Amino acid sequence: MQSLSSLPPAPLSAIVQMFHVYKTFDGQKAALADINLRIEPGEMVFLVGPSGAGKTTLLRLIFREEKASSGQIIVNGKNVSKMKDSQICQLRRKIGVVFQDFKLIHSKTVFENVAYVLQVLGKSKSEIGRKVWSALRRVGLEHKMDVYPKRLSGGEQQRVAIARAVVNDPVLLLADEPTGNLDLDTAREVMNLFIDINIQGTTVLMATHNLRIVEEMGKRVISLREGKIVHH
Ligand SMILES: Nc1ncnc2c1ncn2[C@@H]1O[C@H](COP(=O)(O)OP(=O)(O)OP(=O)(O)O)[C@@H](O)[C@H]1O
Ligand SMILES: [Mg+2]
Repeated sequence: MQSLSSLPPAPLSAIVQMFHVYKTFDGQKAALADINLRIEPGEMVFLVGPSGAGKTTLLRLIFREEKASSGQIIVNGKNVSKMKDSQICQLRRKIGVVFQDFKLIHSKTVFENVAYVLQVLGKSKSEIGRKVWSALRRVGLEHKMDVYPKRLSGGEQQRVAIARAVVNDPVLLLADEPTGNLDLDTAREVMNLFIDINIQGTTVLMATHNLRIVEEMGKRVISLREGKIVHH
């Protein structure tokens, strides 16, 4: 394994850096092999590639849902490979995550879903109220605050999940196929929300199969194939 000190110096400001990252699950061929990448603050980057290419695995390494088999991963200036559990919690507070299947809590209202993370962090009632309102406004759902997720369309549920992901002002927003369960028009609306959030300063890394939308967006694209970055 190459040590960080032998790598060429790079400006410290990147939000994510990966150096020679490998991930192998037991008895399988590498899910990720020799990944090197750098994501700058304020960027919006798409991660594309066929099923099984390693997109989800790469995202999971960034918020330490999985640990790299080797290599170094720096997120927001911290080496995530070396983190203790308490530091992993700190890291996750700075990262918002959005999934294909929304993962909302169905027994909670829209407000309660978005508020939950702030409650866990022990924020005051007034701060929670303010932040949840503002996050729901960003996604255009402040009028659905008291509704339960079951009463919302797929696109609306995803917008709640986005509000929840940004409510604590993350430095990085990760999204894994966030438009995978939506029709094309709804997918475009949700994608435009990510663009708005990015324009307001949050760095966004999104895995998606939706090449048509990716082309429309004109952002940087990282292509994975069989666990490796492919260059065009
Ligand atoms: N927890 C796990 N245990 C074992 N193997 C895994 C695990 N997670 C992923 N893999 C394997 O790693 C490889 C990459 O999977 P990954 O889910 O990252 O692909 P993906 O690009 O997200 O695919 P999709 O587009 O279908 O979501 C696959 O071969 C997969 O079977
Ligand atoms: Mg995936």
